[in-house]
Amino acid sequence: MRMVDLIAKKRDGKELTKEEISFIVEGYTSGDIPDYQMSAFTMAVFFQGMTANEQAELTMSMVQSGDTIDLSAIEGVKVDKHSTGGVGDTTTLILAPLVAAVGVPVAKMSGRGLGHTGGTIDKLEAVKGFHVEIDKKEFIELVNKNKVAVVGQSGNLTPADKKIYALRDVTATVNSLPLIAASIMSKKIAAGADAIVLDVKTGAGAFMKNLEDAKALAQSMVNIGNNVDRQTMAVISDMSQPLGFAIGNALEVEEAIDTLKGKGPKDLEELCLVLGSYMVYLANKASSLEEARRMLQEVIENGKALESFKTFLAAQGGDPSVVDDVAKLPQAAHKSEVKAEKDGYVSEIVADEMGTAAMWLGAGRATKDSEIDLAVGLMLRKKVGDEVKKGESLVTIYSNKEDVQEVKEHILKNISISSEKVDAPSLIYDTVQKSN
Ligand code: URA
Ligand code: CA
Repeated sequence: MRMVDLIAKKRDGKELTKEEISFIVEGYTSGDIPDYQMSAFTMAVFFQGMTANEQAELTMSMVQSGDTIDLSAIEGVKVDKHSTGGVGDTTTLILAPLVAAVGVPVAKMSGRGLGHTGGTIDKLEAVKGFHVEIDKKEFIELVNKNKVAVVGQSGNLTPADKKIYALRDVTATVNSLPLIAASIMSKKIAAGADAIVLDVKTGAGAFMKNLEDAKALAQSMVNIGNNVDRQTMAVISDMSQPLGFAIGNALEVEEAIDTLKGKGPKDLEELCLVLGSYMVYLANKASSLEEARRMLQEVIENGKALESFKTFLAAQGGDPSVVDDVAKLPQAAHKSEVKAEKDGYVSEIVADEMGTAAMWLGAGRATKDSEIDLAVGLMLRKKVGDEVKKGESLVTIYSNKEDVQEVKEHILKNISISSEKVDAPSLIYDTVQKSN
């Protein structure tokens, strides 16, 4: 087989075979295929797309390029959730203990934040003592015992994806639907998921800025999952404005605790109940989505979800008493309000720009090596559709530096107030299941 022929085949819009796709993935990972040929190939895919079969083969070739996590020692169906990334997305912190409380095993591999999006591990580290440095054996024991544990990303998972993603980044081929779909699904499958629930975001804060693209991406990933025998479902959710109120590590932990108590922001709670219902259903713990939702509501009401969070924190060295006393979380030295400059209705809160503002305060990393400040961030006081009076607070800034003028101006520039009444955006636009 010659790479040049395979590039030509894709350029001409033909379907590649399983053998051809694994030849490309293996060859590129090992260094036998040079960057310039792989660049031409990814560009050909960008223009010609890939069939469902090709996407499934690409995904599995990338899975096989490195280590895979074997979770077979954990009882039950391991369901993973993946969000395509957003701002103030506190769902994992809530969902992990929430679905664990109804008996769904959560063996979660998580990452750190970069740029305007946060990472689950950073957020959890706002709890004093919490760490993810546990070995494989302990991880599995904890999931069997408590139904939930979180570890950091292991070194050699999907090396093919790492290398291809880096190449796409500099060849203007990141935004190719089949390549994104295979990239995300390969990582979930390598991490050991039996079933996968996807939260595909759409709007300013998301990869997919419009609904149509988000739906197409969701459908591709759902088809890949089902084609390789991992039951997969997706919801398309709004990321035009940040989710919930809190953006920032300790602030989001507090928001997660509130939500587990049934006192969280309504949008965040609803998204957690929807995603959680799918997880419970795919794990065969409920016979319908309605039953799954009732089970989740019950463990919020009877305190079991909160108890599960405490157990999980303590098992990984964290201080569980923060749950009853959130003042023990890292606290910022200064608070200041971003005030509305006129009366009206909030019509837009640009999600990724709020993420950027939080990053400037130190809540996120500008580069991979930046240090983050767990205490700082933003609390939205208004959401899209809310009425606001001139001088009322739109956002509270929590900072450890006194001068936050630049951040304030950036926030004001990215929140629009209209004189006309505005409807709150839909939270969930659609759900996607296997197509026949
Ligand atoms: N996220 C991923 O993991 N891969 C992509 O290709 C795009 C977004
Ligand atoms: Ca939030």
